[in-house]
Amino acid sequence: MGFSPGAFEGTLGETAGVAEPAAVTVVIPTFNESANVRELLHRLTDSVPARLPCEVVFVDDSSDDTPAVIAEAAQDCPFPVTVIHRDSPDGGLGGAVVEGMKAAGSDWIVVMDADLQHPPSLVPDLVATGEKESADLVVASRYLPGGSRAGLAGGYRVAVSRGATWLAKGLFPRALHGISDPMSGFFAIRRSAVTAEALKPLGYKILLELAVRCRPGGVAEVPFVFQDRFAGESKSTAREGLRFLRHLVGLRTAAPLARMAAFGLIGLTGFVPNLLALHALVTAGLHYLPAEILANQFGVLWNFLLIEVLLFRDRRHHRHWADRVGRFALLANADLVLRIPLIALLVGQFHLAVLPATTLALLTTFVLRFAGTEALVYLPRGGRSTRSRTGTARSTS
Ligand code: GDD
Ligand code: MN
Repeated sequence: MGFSPGAFEGTLGETAGVAEPAAVTVVIPTFNESANVRELLHRLTDSVPARLPCEVVFVDDSSDDTPAVIAEAAQDCPFPVTVIHRDSPDGGLGGAVVEGMKAAGSDWIVVMDADLQHPPSLVPDLVATGEKESADLVVASRYLPGGSRAGLAGGYRVAVSRGATWLAKGLFPRALHGISDPMSGFFAIRRSAVTAEALKPLGYKILLELAVRCRPGGVAEVPFVFQDRFAGESKSTAREGLRFLRHLVGLRTAAPLARMAAFGLIGLTGFVPNLLALHALVTAGLHYLPAEILANQFGVLWNFLLIEVLLFRDRRHHRHWADRVGRFALLANADLVLRIPLIALLVGQFHLAVLPATTLALLTTFVLRFAGTEALVYLPRGGRSTRSRTGTARSTS
């Protein structure tokens, strides 16, 4: 990074009253924003460096000439501008932000969009608020008095954004306490509060990821008016909505017990395809016993697909999919085969009544099946995670 705090010696004295002069790295993800970046750097130049030393890091996944336009416009900037161009856009917008945070050289990091929906003039206010209130995270919120989502096109997007906010806040009441706008893409965070290794961002909701996995101490908010896009179009698609739901499940099931509960819920939904298939097979004239066995496979497949997408998304790559589906099906059918002798044992040897014996057997085989699935299908070979997970992420709320 070309950022040297010394370059700002002339302006450091202006932040009187604060023990240590703050500096900021502005991280800006870009995906084909060539028509916006020049104006953005212009407005940043107008509003930031006089009040706050800064550097700008673009993390770019563009297929257009955005990097070239940035490089040209950067020549007129009084602060260092870096472009990190990624050849593979891992994690989309969120992945890009994490990449930029790793490269940040200042105590404060501000994340903002490149399309001028986030007013650059607010960057110094976000940092000043964090310093003043000794907060680790300052969110620019559309839902505070004085803020609004004027630039959010259409009632549909407003409703989706509201629904997503409620859902996230309902699932993470503690981690999102004090954050009225967890969907905001505009915020300041202390670099010391970011454990980049612990982050596994997926798509647009990087603030949610940070708030849940890093648990910044002390949160403040500043209202802002979400502007219209300066140029170009939003890159958000219906696919982003699905990614968001997967992201929520991933965050919520980071702890083993929560994962087991989700595994159980998914298992329950498997009754639907199971029963539908059973009905179809019996109607087609098959004897009910082979029909049971066959129908069970539909439930198994349904469960397999759901846990792959929702629960073990980042643990799938140690085994070939055919290997995974084979092992999963084996465990699921063993469950069925084991349950009957287990019930017989509980009733015959331990003199339990049929109902409690069945309940106990169901629970036992369920836990065994969950543990088996974790260990035999999704645990990396050798038993260790291939990527280091040394970050000090705290557990979810
Ligand atoms: N590097 C990179 N990679 N940048 C991306 C990618 C990607 O895959 N996808 C989008 N971006 C960049 C865009 O170029 C833009 O600078 C910024 O991320 C936001 O993208 P938009 O497409 O303009 O998003 P939006 O306006 O629909 O959504 C914004 O507002 C939402 C609140 O309604 C974002 O700030 C969201 O995070 C926020 O939730
Ligand atoms: Mn936008």
